Amino acid sequence: MTDTLAIRGGTPVVPKELHHRWPVITAEDKAAVQTALDSGIVSGPYAPQTKALEEEWARYCGVRHALTTNSGTAALHTAVAAGGIGTGDQVITTAFTFLATALAVLQNNAIPVFVDIDPRTYNIDPGKIEERITARTRAIIPVHIHGCPADMDPILAIARKHRLLVIEDAAQAHGSTYKGKKVGGIGDMGIFSFQASKNLPAGEGGMFVTNREELKERANRFRMFGEDVRESDKKAFDPARPLDGAREYNSLMMGWMYRSNELTAALCRSQLRRLDASLEQTRRNAAYLSEHLGKIPGVTPPYIPSDCTSGFYQYRLRLDLKPLGVTIPVKDFRLKLLAALGAEGVEVSLWQTIPVPAQTLFQERTGYGLGCPWQCPLGEEVKYDLAEYPETMKLLEDSLVVGSHTFPLFPQPLELMKKYVEAFQRVFANLGQVLA
Ligand SMILES: Cc1ncc(COP(=O)(O)O)c(C=O)c1O
Repeated sequence: MTDTLAIRGGTPVVPKELHHRWPVITAEDKAAVQTALDSGIVSGPYAPQTKALEEEWARYCGVRHALTTNSGTAALHTAVAAGGIGTGDQVITTAFTFLATALAVLQNNAIPVFVDIDPRTYNIDPGKIEERITARTRAIIPVHIHGCPADMDPILAIARKHRLLVIEDAAQAHGSTYKGKKVGGIGDMGIFSFQASKNLPAGEGGMFVTNREELKERANRFRMFGEDVRESDKKAFDPARPLDGAREYNSLMMGWMYRSNELTAALCRSQLRRLDASLEQTRRNAAYLSEHLGKIPGVTPPYIPSDCTSGFYQYRLRLDLKPLGVTIPVKDFRLKLLAALGAEGVEVSLWQTIPVPAQTLFQERTGYGLGCPWQCPLGEEVKYDLAEYPETMKLLEDSLVVGSHTFPLFPQPLELMKKYVEAFQRVFANLGQVLA
């Protein structure tokens, strides 16, 4: 079938107006924020919206403690600090993540060590962790990338064997499950992001979770200037006057100001009521795309292990040029494909173009200046040789994301997914025009 592609002047397959923007803000969301405003309480460590969100999120994740923070990065830094990880220590994480995972380690003067990925799940390859463990390794941060859970059982077994902490970076994985358990509460600590592109969007914001009381206590201090501000001290806290109280003004440890606020908490609580319905819609959309795009030679849809669920924060598919008889480099083909699909009206994007250790920060190891923390006298030399991450390098050259931050899969109607499939089929049936 010859058909003129939109990139060659044909009519685009996908009507623009079928797209729904993210985040979806409903009348209920607006009323929730208005209620918070009407209360006159807009912030405070144990203010009512913040407290309620922490309780609701802990219940949702099946975890004992949850503490709000003002970003996912802040929650990660809080977890690293609560774990007592510091100068000269090493923390193992995946080469395919968002920079924040590694920044949080550096922010506490510790050194990130990266491990390559499993090419099917795009998550840290547990089989490659042990060879990176040294006498200075203190923790592993598996990242549930794109919402697909990392393989926690072997990761926890390695951690137990070497007495390491496990901090789950679930910034992209709200509501994802691993063997029936919600992610975030499986390791020693976990974190989430409520930044606007996430499955649970509240503008900016984050959450720290743990089942361990002592880690919660340390995290709570850390996110509030290192002070011991306790809710249980009723003399210190009247919920109606959350900024007053008998505060000692004595910092016990290094701390930051990572608290969130009532408006964010109110919006997040309202969005949380729709999270499961939204995840269901996303999974339906992803399943439809995978069923149909998987039939196109050269396209491999994302893989989710059968004992896991994902929220498809990103729907990333891989390209294989062999069955297509295309001989140009896959990276060049991808650019042409992005242009052709984009012209048909499909939202396609690239998320991360190089492994995190390839970023200038790690290649130059400038850090805090004078090479800290890498040149810290306690540390061991850690270098970032890109030859150690071949699967991550390959993934970032041969994959693309269907959807974007403004138009991810989450709120889209099935009708739009059908048009996306039609557009893919059209483009792949006319590769001559794509390559011309
Ligand atoms: C894997 C991962 N970790 C951490 C973060 C940091 O979250 P935030 O942007 O809320 O600081 C993000 C944000 O995109 C992320 O994708």
